[in-house]
Amino acid sequence: MTEENEKLQTTAGRVADLKTRLSEAVLAKEEKAKERQHAKGKKTARERIAEFVDQGSFVEFDTFVKHRTTAFGMEKNRPAGDAVVTGMATVFGRRVAVYAQDFTTFGGSLGEVAGEKIVKVMDYALDLKIPLISILDSGGARIQEGVVALGKYAQIFKRNTAASGVIPQISIIMGPAAGGAVYSPALTDFVIMVDKSSHMFVTGPDVIKTVTGEEVGFEELGGARTHNEVSGVAHYLAADEDDALDYVRALLSYLPDNNKVEVPAYDHTAARVVNDHDRRLNSIIPDSPNQPYDMVEIIESLMDDNEFLEVQPLYAPNITIGFGRLEGRSIGVIANQPKAMAGTLNIEAGEKAARFMRFCDAFNIPVLTLVDVPGYLPGTDQEWSGVIRRGAKLLYAYAEATVPLVTVITRKAYGGAYIVMGSKHLGADINIAWPTAEIAVMGGQGAVNILYRGQLKDAESNGDDVEAVRKQLADDYTYSVASPYLAAERGEIDGIIEPAETRVAVSKAFRFLRSKQVAGPDRKHGNIPL
Ligand code: HXC
Repeated sequence: MTEENEKLQTTAGRVADLKTRLSEAVLAKEEKAKERQHAKGKKTARERIAEFVDQGSFVEFDTFVKHRTTAFGMEKNRPAGDAVVTGMATVFGRRVAVYAQDFTTFGGSLGEVAGEKIVKVMDYALDLKIPLISILDSGGARIQEGVVALGKYAQIFKRNTAASGVIPQISIIMGPAAGGAVYSPALTDFVIMVDKSSHMFVTGPDVIKTVTGEEVGFEELGGARTHNEVSGVAHYLAADEDDALDYVRALLSYLPDNNKVEVPAYDHTAARVVNDHDRRLNSIIPDSPNQPYDMVEIIESLMDDNEFLEVQPLYAPNITIGFGRLEGRSIGVIANQPKAMAGTLNIEAGEKAARFMRFCDAFNIPVLTLVDVPGYLPGTDQEWSGVIRRGAKLLYAYAEATVPLVTVITRKAYGGAYIVMGSKHLGADINIAWPTAEIAVMGGQGAVNILYRGQLKDAESNGDDVEAVRKQLADDYTYSVASPYLAAERGEIDGIIEPAETRVAVSKAFRFLRSKQVAGPDRKHGNIPL
């Protein structure tokens, strides 16, 4: 018997052996990982997890797993744990399943056993019905392992899809995510990218140059800014890794563990009567209908502690989405933003809001809609890009939603955009308007040009001031035809309130609606216009 084996004859010897093995598998590997990652201003997989979760709560799985590949001399290099760290932890005391890819081991690439580790932790998340947090930093499918690596991706995608609408899934991109590897994040609910250090693309700059001749750099092609501002793939542009982890912790605080439990409720003693802060809303709408204002100011003033966590703020800024709380309970907010493109709806805004609405509906998060929308953006660009099919997504999302829906019209609500933004007959439970609301088939200017074409022509031939006549007619139209009192007369809205009363009214509405239960139609699934 060797001296080593002799030591293992005793319990003390075996415990000491475990310590040595753990030290090699974790501590020694971690030291090397730190050297390589820190040099690039990045944290290691374990550091990222440790920073993200409650201190000391992380339980790691499969620390001793090793790959079984022999191709390309791989059998000589079998690091313990392979290229991903997986496990369970708590965040603010609530359980999460988490994995973080380790770029310092085979570029964080996904081979057979790294895939098995990820699949295992995803299965735990699904079985225990707890959120899944994925931290990606990977060169994609492990080239040495070929089709086996591809098969593992397929298993991951299958689980991402099975988990969709069952548990919240959040992806944090902290390095490359290349090739088909981008599709796991794409299937999850929220994608957070770190400025300058994260990249996502299906085909990289070299392949693009070879195939199409187009020259583009990593950052422009798939950097965090590109995916936050241009493609809409990402939901938050983090300034650095700490910021990304902070944002995800805050995001989690609004989300339930799964689709079968209620949203988190925190003790909150919001004033149940109108206060001075609320009264500021009485003067927020400018006298001129063409003057913008900041809808986020309204949202913040309604939410508990004036806290609003905006989602996807840089993409389609003409619509604002995000989470807040009313009386301690999570609320999703969808609001037109008059500050950007006058709050007009376009394809991007529709898709952004539709996906958010479906997330909220899947996870029983009530939705507050704030409306100030002059209509859909006209133009060939929109029509040819499929505004009919793609714009229908938002209609579909509102129409199928069964969570409590409260809508407040602050100013313009015209035409199809009125219908889609949480109108009564599309399924909203409580619809409220401010006295500044204008609800009609179209805005005054547009309506007057059609209804009073003859009168305007006459004015022109009489040498009258046509613009003055047009304005007078448009104003008359706005005060009479577009008046919210007409909508109230018809029951299209349930009440007209002073802006200052909104917080109290909306809180009451959601309180009453808490017991809402609507059964959907008996079907396998609907066919949303994708
Ligand atoms: C095996 C990989 C790897 C991979 C990187 N490495 N990607 N090993 N399989 N896919 C290894 C490198 O060999 C290197 O090992 C280490 O990781 C660090 O890589 P570097 O290239 O030195 O790092 P960097 O310069 O930062 O570049 C990172 C990178 C680049 C941009 C990600 O490595 C790269 O382009 N990798 C290939 C990306 C790719 O095309 N992947 C396949 C996509 S197809 P050493 O030993 O030198 O440290 C795909 C299909 C999925 O993923 C399909 C699902 C449906």
